[in-house]
Amino acid sequence: MALVDCKIIDLPKISDPRGNLTFIEGGRHIPFDIKRVYYLYDVPGGAERGAHGHRRLQQLVVAMSGSFDVILDDGFEKRTFHMNRSYYGLYVSPMMWRDITNVSSGAVLMVLASELYDESDYFRDYGQFSEEAKI
Ligand code: TYD
Repeated sequence: MALVDCKIIDLPKISDPRGNLTFIEGGRHIPFDIKRVYYLYDVPGGAERGAHGHRRLQQLVVAMSGSFDVILDDGFEKRTFHMNRSYYGLYVSPMMWRDITNVSSGAVLMVLASELYDESDYFRDYGQFSEEAKI
């Protein structure tokens, strides 16, 4: 998959004086059914997450609170997405290396995933990822 497939999806936002509400429906707002949800929180200052790729997994990354940068790399080029709104979802296609940096204090990163956790779907080595990405 190419970097052009990865984009910020503007999620529905119901504005109300009592506070805003955003919702995400699998297969409707995002191009996959949601099988797993996980989140990162209490990330210490300066820590970097990600640093891996996935063979088949599709994901949607949302900054539930705070901000961070997601750097996507398809083996050919890189693009940085600054995530700082709870109604933005970054769609990450398969075969994408991701690095997560500049995580603000108190940030909560939620990820919706198309598959259950499966370590065999990971690329943990960038060299191996970029070789397979170029095939
Ligand atoms: P990893 O995906 O490497 O973290 P990051 O969010 O920085 O990309 O996962 C960190 C650890 O958590 C690793 O040992 C695998 C485990 N893990 C699960 O058991 N289930 C999950 O759904 C996820 C995302 C990770």
